Amino acid sequence: MNIKFHSMAVFTVFATAVSATVLANPELTINGVSFESRANWMRLANSALEISGSPCPFAAFGTVIVNHTDSNPGKLICMGVNENSKTGNPSLHGEIAAIKNCTAILTDPEGDYRLTPAEAQIAFEGLSLYTNAESCPMCASAIRWSGFREYIYGTSIETLINQGWGQIRVPSVNIFEASYDLPIQSRLIGNLLANETDPFFLWQYNPSYPCPRGCTRSRGLGASLCS
Ligand SMILES: *[C@@H]1O[C@H](CO)[C@@H](O)[C@H](O)[C@H]1NC(C)=O
Ligand SMILES: *[C@@H]1O[C@H](CO)[C@@H](O)[C@H](O)[C@H]1NC(C)=O
Ligand SMILES: *[C@@H]1O[C@H](CO)[C@@H](O)[C@H](O)[C@H]1NC(C)=O
Ligand SMILES: [Zn+2]
Repeated sequence: MNIKFHSMAVFTVFATAVSATVLANPELTINGVSFESRANWMRLANSALEISGSPCPFAAFGTVIVNHTDSNPGKLICMGVNENSKTGNPSLHGEIAAIKNCTAILTDPEGDYRLTPAEAQIAFEGLSLYTNAESCPMCASAIRWSGFREYIYGTSIETLINQGWGQIRVPSVNIFEASYDLPIQSRLIGNLLANETDPFFLWQYNPSYPCPRGCTRSRGLGASLCS
């Protein structure tokens, strides 16, 4: 092997490793949206959990979908939370529930938007999805199929796994990297306001971790739960 070829091979390996792991600093102003604006949308994703009837559901996954091209700091289109236990549908993670909710809101013939299904599909290309924990590969794929302009998550899959959650170990950045054949580009911003999203996911498997604000520990069926 000649020297030149060898050094190129090393560079390629290095570049692949870097692109798979380095994310933008979430405190930068990306696509003209400040960290402060994005932080408030992420806080809304945390408080969307109230839709479930409690500020501290076990499956504490909340999503909001925002139009940032409409105005600054943006316009809320819809919210969604994990609906597995409410509906019995195991695929209704918070992101899927929000995409479903937004579709219903955008196409409601009596609603604010009154879009046709074809128009609703195109509308997603202008929207940003905020979710308080990194999407599983199913949801990250749904985000790419939807063509969202931006996808922003709080707590990482790595943190979820470290804290006892069962997760499919494919980071969203890998799904995004693998989806270059899709027509729409999408921006990924990770770990945004993780200091405020993490506490929603650290109590479930750690009985000594404090409950999220507004909730207290109770014992049910041998497990210690926040409610
Ligand atoms: C988002 O805002 C842009 C700019 O105002 C607008 O053209 C677009 O229709 C909005 N999207 C939705 C779904 O309302
Ligand atoms: C759908 O989104 C709206 C608007 O944000 C919200 O008020 C409503 O609770 C959401 N519905 C569900 C089922 O999540
Ligand atoms: C979390 O960190 C951000 C900076 O990344 C800061 O603005 C925010 O106040 C912090 N939240 C809390 C509750 O300390
Ligand atoms: Zn998911």
